[in-house]
Amino acid sequence: MYHILIRLTTGFYFFSYHMEHIKDGISGRELFQSREGLTYKDFLTLPGYIDFVPDEVSLQTKISKNIQIHIPVISSPMDTVTEHKMAIGLALIGGIGIIHSNNTIEDQAREVERVKRFENGFIHDPILLSPENTILDILTVKGKFGFSGIPITEDGTMKTRLVGIVTNRDIDFEKDKKKKIKDVMSTQLITAEQGVSLAKANDILKDSKKGKLPIVDKNGLLVSLMCRSDLIKNKEYPLSSKDNSKSLLAGAAVSTHPGDRDRVEALVEKGVDLLVIDSAQGYSSYQLEFIKTLKKKYPAIDIMAGNIVTSQQALALIEAGADSLRIGMGPGSICITQDTMACGRAQASAVYHTALIARKHNVPVIADGGITNIGDITKALAIGAASVMVGSLLAGTQEAPGEYFYENGVRLKRYRGMASLEAMEAGGAKRYFADDQKIRVAQGVSGTVMDKGTIFDFLPYLVQGVKHSFQDMGIKNITKLHEELYSENLRFERRSLAAQVQGGVHNLYSFKKPIIGTE
Ligand code: IMP
Repeated sequence: MYHILIRLTTGFYFFSYHMEHIKDGISGRELFQSREGLTYKDFLTLPGYIDFVPDEVSLQTKISKNIQIHIPVISSPMDTVTEHKMAIGLALIGGIGIIHSNNTIEDQAREVERVKRFENGFIHDPILLSPENTILDILTVKGKFGFSGIPITEDGTMKTRLVGIVTNRDIDFEKDKKKKIKDVMSTQLITAEQGVSLAKANDILKDSKKGKLPIVDKNGLLVSLMCRSDLIKNKEYPLSSKDNSKSLLAGAAVSTHPGDRDRVEALVEKGVDLLVIDSAQGYSSYQLEFIKTLKKKYPAIDIMAGNIVTSQQALALIEAGADSLRIGMGPGSICITQDTMACGRAQASAVYHTALIARKHNVPVIADGGITNIGDITKALAIGAASVMVGSLLAGTQEAPGEYFYENGVRLKRYRGMASLEAMEAGGAKRYFADDQKIRVAQGVSGTVMDKGTIFDFLPYLVQGVKHSFQDMGIKNITKLHEELYSENLRFERRSLAAQVQGGVHNLYSFKKPIIGTE
């Protein structure tokens, strides 16, 4: 309502608009009152008042009752998205990765272990040889892995003492390839002691003029290795997602399938921080039981339950003990669930309605699937999500599993739904209660996505974009954003189809879409 005060002072009229009473647009409640399902493209947020710069925006968020991260981005547990490289990269930048379970228990546990044991700049599982190996063995390692600074321990494992190191220089002029390493290795070693800081180890490496710096414990056992070639990569990451003992956070997917009880145990043993119950339709007796069992057995580990899309489903999982909810049934880029199964919900409606009820119980909701750009991330947060979960957005990055290849001159990576026939063959059917079915109905497709470079460039770009959106809304953090949503100060507008067309690039003969701009 307009509230206009007209005051007469020294003969002039002053009009002062009391802005707090002007509510243009509609509230989130009004937006989602409509019985029609809405997606992110169906609405916009209206701008607020700017009195700060984007750098003042904090995107810190709680993604479960006990886990807080600095960047609201979680990578999907999919076999073309999240293994240890993605999970390490994301956690360093401030997000978290969920290791997929389309593999053996041992493989998944090893992936989690690699994240938990990761120390920036330090290699914990270097290739080793023993003094009894030959120059030929060194050449084989070099051929396979492309480097030649190899630490030598008594028996070629991390369990025995470090006795030397072999570099290119030691073997360059050796003609006899059968010569034993003990006859050529350098034994004058410069090492650092376990517990050395990243900065100190970097300094020792620089001063030593060597290619490698072995880190050893009190007994002379090799603990890790630092490489000169990684020096510029050995940066500090102030926003990284870490547990109390300073290890990176790692999430892992498990299914409600009885066979996965052992999987949970193996993951917990490796220090997993967040268990994500991976199910396409999470409102099931199996999942409710599973949540209760997990909470009883592992009370210290947070459980993200799902996937769900209605308030009824949300309440059931919350009451069973879920610490976080994963929202989405059908919005994923590779997903054909809604068409095939006739069941699901438009993603923005699903996020809004589940977030509304989950907030009352202090349980964060994660908007999973259908995120295509910066704007979608902001919109998911603006309608109540604590974070987004993304698959296709990250599948083309260097850190996603799989090799790049070219098609029509474009550099691509494969990306497939976990319910695509291809992924189900490889073991992904558990998510869809279909692993023991003779006839499988695919709910996903396999495809390709374009190269997006490294997440160390791509994620900061997304983050910067979201900070700009927050600035446009006049809001400095996610907690405030949610307060403004529920107090109805945050205003929205529905977009007609014509408005959507006008909001995109139009009326041009051709144009280039720059993705990441640098100074
Ligand atoms: P995207 O970010 O739009 O690519 O969606 C990723 C999300 O799609 C995942 O986090 C899963 O929730 C979901 N998903 C993964 N595989 C499938 C599938 O085969 N069918 C349907 N949904 C899937």
